[in-house]
Amino acid sequence: MSTHDLFFMNGRLEGAAVKRKTTYLKDLSGVFKDENLRVKMSQELVIYDVDFYQPVEPGTQGGLFFGVTRIQPGQVGEEYFMTRGHFHAIVDRGEFYWGINGTGMLILMDRNRKVRSEEMKPGSLHYIPADTAHRVANTGNDVLSFGACWPADAGYDYEEIKIHGFAARLMNKNGVPQLINQE
Ligand code: F6R
Ligand code: MN
Repeated sequence: MSTHDLFFMNGRLEGAAVKRKTTYLKDLSGVFKDENLRVKMSQELVIYDVDFYQPVEPGTQGGLFFGVTRIQPGQVGEEYFMTRGHFHAIVDRGEFYWGINGTGMLILMDRNRKVRSEEMKPGSLHYIPADTAHRVANTGNDVLSFGACWPADAGYDYEEIKIHGFAARLMNKNGVPQLINQE
């Protein structure tokens, strides 16, 4: 009999097979509106990290991946710390996100560049439809953490967002998070 070594407990994913990817401010060139300010800030600042479990090889049809993302509180100018954001490489793959800790906003954009947002908080559940770019911003003073489950063959298309960005950005306007249209 083998000992089970994979746990999702108290909002944390644990086990020998769990991997971590950390994203620092230096990795987010061109992501925030105020790039001049971003380069002046501490480049070694951790903005977010993802603990994830891949039971099958990336690209495996029918497989599922599971992850927990933690976004630190903070801003670049008026813009909240957030994930890079992406479409899936295989466009007809959806995903579930759910809030675990802290408060934030899930920002969704379809192929027509129409943006909408959903508030994230502990217990909130979010379905990300296929062919929809997704990004999360931390609007609170605590770490925002959320779970995610997605198809193992979904992949990532970061390029589209790198080139064109999201059509709206989430900014702190006098203490109130507001989606500000960019085009
Ligand atoms: C997987 C997924 C999440 C994100 C994570 C970091 O499809 O959506 O696990 O990868 O929240 O965000 P990105 O990948 O946009 O840097
Ligand atoms: Mn995704």
